[in-house]
Amino acid sequence: MNLRSRLWQKAMIGLATNRRMKDAMQQWATASRLASRYVGGGTVEEGVRVAVNLHTDGIKPSLFYLGEYLHDRVAIEETVAKKICAAQLLGKGDLDVHVSVDPTQLGLSIDRDLCERNAIRIAEAVGASCQRSNGTHCMMLDMEDDELVTATIEVHDLIQQQGLPVAITLQAYLRRTKDDLQTKVQQGAKVRLVKGAFAANSDIAYTSSRSIRKNYLALSEIALSNEARETGFYASFATHDHILLKEIVRMAAARGWEPGTYEFEMLYGVRSQLAEQLAADGQKVRVYMPFGTDWWPYALRRLGESPKNLLLLVRAILSRA
Ligand code: FDA
Repeated sequence: MNLRSRLWQKAMIGLATNRRMKDAMQQWATASRLASRYVGGGTVEEGVRVAVNLHTDGIKPSLFYLGEYLHDRVAIEETVAKKICAAQLLGKGDLDVHVSVDPTQLGLSIDRDLCERNAIRIAEAVGASCQRSNGTHCMMLDMEDDELVTATIEVHDLIQQQGLPVAITLQAYLRRTKDDLQTKVQQGAKVRLVKGAFAANSDIAYTSSRSIRKNYLALSEIALSNEARETGFYASFATHDHILLKEIVRMAAARGWEPGTYEFEMLYGVRSQLAEQLAADGQKVRVYMPFGTDWWPYALRRLGESPKNLLLLVRAILSRA
């Protein structure tokens, strides 16, 4: 990441965590230009409706109820209830939907046991929906900052041991991910591979775009190895980087992985044409579709991923004035 991109990302994270700005923007309208670019709806019903429509268009959804780094038990319970409600609504159709979850939404920042109990409740609801509908849903654990990686992996393993449908996100910017991924391959787990939306020091992380991309490809080789095929490991490559996408499609074909035995995942509102093109080429594509009213921090982090988004932010703020 160059200096301009890094400064832009830092500025957006600063704005995302500014409480007054967040309250002002969110109160004004959930349907502002910014929210509607990255968010599929305000309520569970709207989120599920957009997810079902995506499915009809041949794109698999991953549903995410917005909110992060929660410390308040009431807000945590409300978030868990929304995710369970979304999982229950999925029991009505023959769908393939991921319910994405940030561990800090379930209480990881305040009480590890609470987080584990909540994660099990959601995974049970997702599992029950699979049984009711013949669906192939799964609870996907998102990965947050580097201090939470070990705990998040432990929560994943606990749920997997209970035979519940669970997957986990691993980040290519972290040096430890090679070992973490190898363990997950041995377990025959389901992993979403991302570059990482966080930054860390060079002793634990790759810090340049070039080194992160290089590591992403090295990790993709592990995810598409013979061992991965033997253990039943399943990979989701979550990136909008067309150079990586092209190389992974080539690598998978060269190693005999049929489209559909792995998947690609992108964010709602980002490079949609690329997602549609991949789907048209016969690849399995999923779109991460957030819903809910707490959209400001999420949208700002998305804006921070590309300085080209400056115009979008200016428009959103001007339309607020
Ligand atoms: P890169 O940033 O190089 O972008 C490639 C191209 O896409 C560029 O042209 C760029 O301009 C464009 N692009 C990318 N993001 C854009 C945006 N927001 N708006 C407009 N254009 C954009 N991270 C994490 O730490 N934990 C997690 O759990 C997740 N979960 C997750 C799920 C899914 C489905 C995705 C796609 C991503 C995540 N991420 C994540 C975020 C991820 O780590 C990373 O920050 C972003 O995907 C951006 O990196 P890319 O690999 O897309 O490449």
